[in-house]
Amino acid sequence: MAAITSRSNALDLGRRRILIFGGSFDPIHLGHIKLLKRAISVVRPEKSLVIPSADQPAHKTPCLFPVSIRTACIQISLAKVPNWAILDYETIREAPAYTWETLRFLKQKFQDAQFYLVVGSDNVHAIRKWKNARDLLGDKKLTVVAAQRPGWPLSTTLKPAGGLIKLDGRYPDISSTEIRCMLTSNDASERRQAWSRLSRAARLPLRGEEGLVIIAQAYIKRHLPQSRYAHSLSVAQLAADLAQRWHGNERGARLAGLLHDSSRTQENFQNFNDAMSHAQRSAGIARTIIGVKDPAILEAIRCHTLGLPGMPLLAKILFVADFASPDRTFPEADQIRLLARRDLNAALCAVAAHKLHYLLRQNRFIHPKALAYWNSLVGKP
Ligand SMILES: [Fe+2]
Ligand SMILES: [Fe+2]
Repeated sequence: MAAITSRSNALDLGRRRILIFGGSFDPIHLGHIKLLKRAISVVRPEKSLVIPSADQPAHKTPCLFPVSIRTACIQISLAKVPNWAILDYETIREAPAYTWETLRFLKQKFQDAQFYLVVGSDNVHAIRKWKNARDLLGDKKLTVVAAQRPGWPLSTTLKPAGGLIKLDGRYPDISSTEIRCMLTSNDASERRQAWSRLSRAARLPLRGEEGLVIIAQAYIKRHLPQSRYAHSLSVAQLAADLAQRWHGNERGARLAGLLHDSSRTQENFQNFNDAMSHAQRSAGIARTIIGVKDPAILEAIRCHTLGLPGMPLLAKILFVADFASPDRTFPEADQIRLLARRDLNAALCAVAAHKLHYLLRQNRFIHPKALAYWNSLVGKP
């Protein structure tokens, strides 16, 4: 049973009750859902408001998933929960919102209501340090609904003027931080664990192309050397620009650009085989770790170094973008980048020729696939 304090207004049945549940929900997981359902069953609110926080890119720990994905996951995960709504007050503001500001807004909007603020026991201990905590805790219209989090005992001397309700159970016993980390792990069992902690429905937005772009970027940020990560971002941006220019799949091109070198965990190749196989291995990471299923994206990654006769638009774009991305320091990159916007096939020829010239000048082995691609571009005599 939920422990309800003896304060008479802890559960004020005489007023309209509104439950407020805020957080980054980055992403929402089964622990959040369980907690919300429990709080609803105890408070029995007329309405529950789920309030995602803003992205806050300048924040020390900015959200990984943008508000569009976090909101989609919330909506789809809570589809069976009655009488709730997302409040976008914090996400549409330009500046981050403090809880007291959100409460002030709600009090203006619902003047007859008693608000029940759901917080974890970690926040129960921190609430005194929140901005304008004195006003919050002195507000009779605000009841704190506290849920125990592992490692944070619920015993507290906190005495909000609007009362304190302690929920039984431990909520959530998992964290979004852990899930975000496990989603980009090379360990398959950790990744499985991460997915299993999301509602079945919430997995859909994360597995869509927009979600995969976010996970892919987090993966390469975690596993690649800084300069390779920067190169991959640069290739991804150019690939997306070229896809837009040539009416291709912009998001797919960005994803291919992000992941094309995802197996290059060391800046320099260790040997020839390593150099030749990195495109295949990167496509393997894209498929098995990130979950890319689109064969055009996987093929583009596989062909990005040697090319492939007759390769489709996305692969052409990546082949050019990898060579001519803005982070490249050789002068041909700038020229080919401009050329690619005017004539993509001419840019492909120029890239293939530059690669062959380079190998010839260095007296290096030319892979038969690179020759085959060149021959396919210039045609039979
Ligand atoms: Fe590469
Ligand atoms: Fe590359």
